[in-house]
Amino acid sequence: MDQLKRMAAEAAAEYVKDGMKIGLGSGSTVFEFVRVLGEKAKEGLNIQAVAASRKTEALAKACGIHIIDFPTKEKLEVAFDGADEIAPGLMLLKGGGGSLLREKLVAAAAKRLVVLADESKLVEELGAFKLPVEIIPFGWETTALRIEALGGVASLRQTGQSPFVSDNHNWILDCDFGNIRDPYSLHEKVKKLVGVVETGLFLDMACEAIVASKNGIHHITK
Ligand code: A5P
Repeated sequence: MDQLKRMAAEAAAEYVKDGMKIGLGSGSTVFEFVRVLGEKAKEGLNIQAVAASRKTEALAKACGIHIIDFPTKEKLEVAFDGADEIAPGLMLLKGGGGSLLREKLVAAAAKRLVVLADESKLVEELGAFKLPVEIIPFGWETTALRIEALGGVASLRQTGQSPFVSDNHNWILDCDFGNIRDPYSLHEKVKKLVGVVETGLFLDMACEAIVASKNGIHHITK
């Protein structure tokens, strides 16, 4: 699996040219990508990046990549991120690492979102992976009940005995909705609920997926 992540990372790195401002998502595949970019930076590649998580930021800095704030006058050239599930139409389910809100902000600030993944992430329908939903901690049980009223089963993500805390000091509910037949409608309904900050459904955001399999690299476009 690690070999496939490396393959996807190396293929994605081909898209990064000197002088670019890029977005970096989060997760193990992106961390591999950051390491590849770090090797290129040592050979002279000069790039600037907005990082979607503290972990990505720390790794990128350690690899010699220059981390910047969001540019406001222009969009990032391209953002790169992983995914927990990729369905036809490049509908993504993300947030397994708990960075979905910042990842969505970085993707929204870029002209293009390119997804890096191994073939295990390809699905026919989203939903086998529980949908991560970032919520405000205050009154979280009532937010969970509102989500459950939509037909999901919501579990508070834990780190040991304590709730998992996102980089934004929020909590995550992992929500089992079974097969998600209509991701657009589900995203709209969940996002509207008081207490919800963001869902892990990334719809109409990605323009390409670079998917590594034993047979090589596949480029999936919309
Ligand atoms: C992080 O919150 C996620 O959205 C990741 O992009 C996703 O979980 C994929 O992670 P891996 O690359 O570790 O599978």
